[in-house]
Amino acid sequence: MSTVEVGAGGATFPVPSPCRILGIETSCDETAAAVVVDGSLVASSVVSSQVDLHARFGGVVPELASRAHVELLNPVVAEALVEAGCDGAGLDAVACTIGPGLIGALLVGVSAAKAYALAWGVPFVGVNHLEAHLYAAFLEEPDLEPPLVLLLVSGGHTLLVAMEGHLRYRLLGATIDDAAGEAFDKVARLLGLPYPGGPAIDLLAMDGDPTAIAFPRAMLDEGYDFSFSGIKTSVLTYVRKHPDASGADVAASFQEAVVDVLVTKARRAALEVGAKGLCLAGGVAANSVLRERLLDACIADGLRAFVPSRSMCTDNAAMVAATAWWRLRADGPTPLSVGADPGLHFPGS
Ligand code: KG4
Ligand code: ZN
Repeated sequence: MSTVEVGAGGATFPVPSPCRILGIETSCDETAAAVVVDGSLVASSVVSSQVDLHARFGGVVPELASRAHVELLNPVVAEALVEAGCDGAGLDAVACTIGPGLIGALLVGVSAAKAYALAWGVPFVGVNHLEAHLYAAFLEEPDLEPPLVLLLVSGGHTLLVAMEGHLRYRLLGATIDDAAGEAFDKVARLLGLPYPGGPAIDLLAMDGDPTAIAFPRAMLDEGYDFSFSGIKTSVLTYVRKHPDASGADVAASFQEAVVDVLVTKARRAALEVGAKGLCLAGGVAANSVLRERLLDACIADGLRAFVPSRSMCTDNAAMVAATAWWRLRADGPTPLSVGADPGLHFPGS
């Protein structure tokens, strides 16, 4: 086993090579564990979704999520280790999402990860969930080279970030109200679609006309911030005025407006900062039309497009373990005094 020292992220902490990291993710409603080698080779990735548990309530119930994480985490970790063909003694670090997310849910993962790290005598690495969504792209495209522009669209966040180098970022813009995923979930609810709303709208929109209704494109020409609460109200007003409107047309037109704003701003940002490529991340990155439009825009502008596979866009622990490899080399182990932070910001913002 050799020891690697300095890496692209200004690494200072020596890590072994190969370096096997167990990642744990419990920030919302997925209980996940994965083993990733050297930040890029996924030896195992297990995701246990609680969607069925929360579906009848139309959204995530925090208390139920925490209890389910308590029940599911140890078996999910055991399965990830078996699939990777290693045990605790074969690991070099244990990593976990420390925020942002639901406090009760985060605490389950953080407490377990610290206990595993102590028991196995390996470093603990606390990972920022938003940065992990970005590093999901590096898992599948290890030759991805900054400068890049990242469009991170999830249930809780909508961020446009310039990635100047590994672990070096500049926040360009963010939502001033609802996140893109939140808008999908709320509009789905008012159309009577099941939770989670994003995939349901995506599916229904396939049968609709995206030009049927001209929903507003908020702040389209104003900088890099976003606003999605207005469009939700517009959809509500439209549906009330036109009770017989085709749900598929409403879904397709809503989706079209959101995607239009996201892609227009991401594209403008990439050209302005001189990025080599555009990278999509977060749960909403699983949206078919967003993926297609971003790819088209990149082809038109001569940019590389990095669109992770759908399973890497939604919450998983492989992205947590991959991020931990970069962070461990750059920052060293996270002190055990560092706890869960539900309001953690994107690094450097
Ligand atoms: O990143 P994620 O799995 O969890 C958070 O960290 O928030 O994102 C979940 C969000 C939900 O709002 C969900 O409706 C949305 O991603 N989503 C989608 C699609 N799949 C998931 N939104 C639009 N189209 C999809 N296909
Ligand atoms: Zn997420």
